Amino acid sequence: MTREDIERVLEELSALKCKTRKEVEEARVRFLGKKGEVTALFEEFRTIDKELKKEFGKTLNELKQKAQATIDSLRDSISDDAGAEGPAVDLSMPGESLDLGSRHPVSIVREEIVQIFRKFGFDVAEGPEIEDDYHVFEALNFPPNHPARDMQDTFFVSSGHPNPLLLRTHTSSVQVRTMEKEDVPIRVICPGRVFRNEAISARAHCIFHQVEGLYIDKNVSFADLKQIILLFAREMFGPQTQIRMRPSYFPFTEPSAEVDVSCNICHGKGCNVCKGTGWLEILGCGMVDPNVLKASGIDPDKYSGYAFGMGLERIAMLKWRVNDLRHYFENDMKFLSEFKTSTEV
Ligand code: DAH
Repeated sequence: MTREDIERVLEELSALKCKTRKEVEEARVRFLGKKGEVTALFEEFRTIDKELKKEFGKTLNELKQKAQATIDSLRDSISDDAGAEGPAVDLSMPGESLDLGSRHPVSIVREEIVQIFRKFGFDVAEGPEIEDDYHVFEALNFPPNHPARDMQDTFFVSSGHPNPLLLRTHTSSVQVRTMEKEDVPIRVICPGRVFRNEAISARAHCIFHQVEGLYIDKNVSFADLKQIILLFAREMFGPQTQIRMRPSYFPFTEPSAEVDVSCNICHGKGCNVCKGTGWLEILGCGMVDPNVLKASGIDPDKYSGYAFGMGLERIAMLKWRVNDLRHYFENDMKFLSEFKTSTEV
């Protein structure tokens, strides 16, 4: 080992130039690898005389540090996209999208309805899906032989009992539970799942969702009912929306009505969605029958009230012009992802 050997390696290091990461790696191997020039000098150092060791020890260590520092600074000076096998990171690659889920259209509509009625001072009430005959039928003034009480229309959980358990066929049962629990005035909406023994088709399903509304106080009139439905319809379907009420019958309301909204597709001119009528049916409603108030311990001579009920799938179908109810239950990702951004707030 001579001073010149060390000088030569130092010079080589000073002259070193690398353009790519691959070249830096090659330089590292050339100087500091197992068979590298610096490594070789260290090997040689082990075999030389003690005297020479004294002379070269420090310089050799300095050489190694210099070699390491040179390689490190060359590596640092090379930008990320100058690797030998192409850029380390390809900034032109599209990002990986995170596939977020979306809310179900029925949930979106339920939330919208809840928000609308909250503004009008309604609270949300809930009740059990497995109910008894009393809360679904009897307290709502259904006569004993009403066809809804038939196995053909209702799923019974137990039978052979004066008050059998069943899957509620409407959320009107929550009216009864609320009237039993709460003091008047009552102003609630009751969203929930209901069940009917129906053949599944584009227009009917055995499971669906309803929102029930109930307002009881002194001097509640049919005009109040009409006003709240009009306000709701305009919030839901737009400020131009008109409503019309048709006389109807429900055991739990008297008088009763069905409500149509003006078709928001043809604006009353007539189209295939409204079957040429210009109107779309959205809900049933009426003044709470005195028998219903009485059954839940409310004095019909002091208080009156209105009630209404609507199907969520029906409202969602009108809102998004979906023509087959079954889409709502099949969890087809293509269908569900249609609702990603529509009313996400
Ligand atoms: N319960 C009715 C149904 O399932 C809907 C309904 C109609 C609810 C009129 C009401 C009402 O509260 O007043 O078809």
